Amino acid sequence: MTEYTVEFVGTGETVQVEDTDTILSRCLDEGIAQEYSCRVGMCLACTAEIIEGEVTQPAARGLTEEEKENYALTCMARPQSDLKLDRGKYPPSIEDEVGVDASADGEVTADD
Ligand code: FES
Repeated sequence: MTEYTVEFVGTGETVQVEDTDTILSRCLDEGIAQEYSCRVGMCLACTAEIIEGEVTQPAARGLTEEEKENYALTCMARPQSDLKLDRGKYPPSIEDEVGVDASADGEVTADD
């Protein structure tokens, strides 16, 4: 077993996660407010963008193979290195589906 440091950008929270544990389970153990719902890799509520590092998540059925390179389902993802994650960021295909403008990054512009 190897233990890695997972850092959440924005909040600066960190949690130590063994490569046999999911990121979500360690967050819940440590009282870190990571969103989740199904815990079986389908709902995407627990999604985070991978800013740095690598995870393994073969059971993350809610993401395409391409999306798995840049996004982690924290309920399924196990670290393979130290990580920096940005919570609440979703793949563009999901943003399009729910009508969120991924490029706006929450900012309101004159066109809005
Ligand atoms: S909690 Fe549903 S995909 Fe992770």
